[in-house]
Amino acid sequence: MSQSLDNKKYAPVGVFDSGVGGLTVAREIMRQLPGERIVYFGDTARVPYGSKSRETIIRYSRQICRFLQDKGVKAIVVACNTASAFALEQVSLEFPLPIIGVVEPGAKVAALATRNGHIGVIGTEGTIGSQIYTKTIHVYRPGAEVVGKPCPLLVPLVEEGWLKDSVTIEVAQRYLSAFQESDIDTLIMGCTHYPLLRSTLQRILGDRVNLVNPAYETAQELKALLTEHGICNDGGKDEAGLQYQFYVSDAAEKFKSFANSILPCEIEEAQLIHIDE
Ligand code: DGL
Repeated sequence: MSQSLDNKKYAPVGVFDSGVGGLTVAREIMRQLPGERIVYFGDTARVPYGSKSRETIIRYSRQICRFLQDKGVKAIVVACNTASAFALEQVSLEFPLPIIGVVEPGAKVAALATRNGHIGVIGTEGTIGSQIYTKTIHVYRPGAEVVGKPCPLLVPLVEEGWLKDSVTIEVAQRYLSAFQESDIDTLIMGCTHYPLLRSTLQRILGDRVNLVNPAYETAQELKALLTEHGICNDGGKDEAGLQYQFYVSDAAEKFKSFANSILPCEIEEAQLIHIDE
């Protein structure tokens, strides 16, 4: 392997989201690619992304990709459905790095997993309004019936840590009643915050609905991508620096304790940075 490819192999992977949601993807990368280093950015000052315009999300995503590029990452995972829907195409054109999102992997697995061809998608207003899941599912399963439902209140409830609270259960019940008529057998959790509510959602929907968390397939796709570029780190060399680094744009302590409640490792610090400067 050439010297520069070898150096790249040990570089970290950049992962970003509007807040804590992308940790569900980072967690999956930690499990499936234990040799990889990660630089995570959570845009906690500007969450939620789901109600903002395409232009704003592109601007935020561009700033974050620039930050991650300056940190020397070898690839970027857009661990946010809204940013994947609105900005993935644009940042992929602008940055000379492999960049993947979470929508394609999630849509693909749901299209292949459904038995009756009826798929539900829950996500932010931006993601559902973009129709990106419907379009991508139809690439893999043209006749599928896709029903989307925006669930904007779930993001602040997750950010608040109210994962099993009665208020959260009531809000989720109200949103999920949208699927009562449609006989879905598969539901995509099309926002990276939602897998943190998995048990609540599953209890409401019952066992006949298969919940899809795109994080799992995203980590698999990342592995395939890094392998294809010859830059997958099998953990052979322990580079200087922390294996996992976390940056946020606000409320670093709150982020840190949340991260520690869901990650398989203890993080010592989340560093506060001003992303828009
Ligand atoms: N977790 C993000 C997503 O997957 C964004 C949620 C938000 O900030 O509204 O869409």
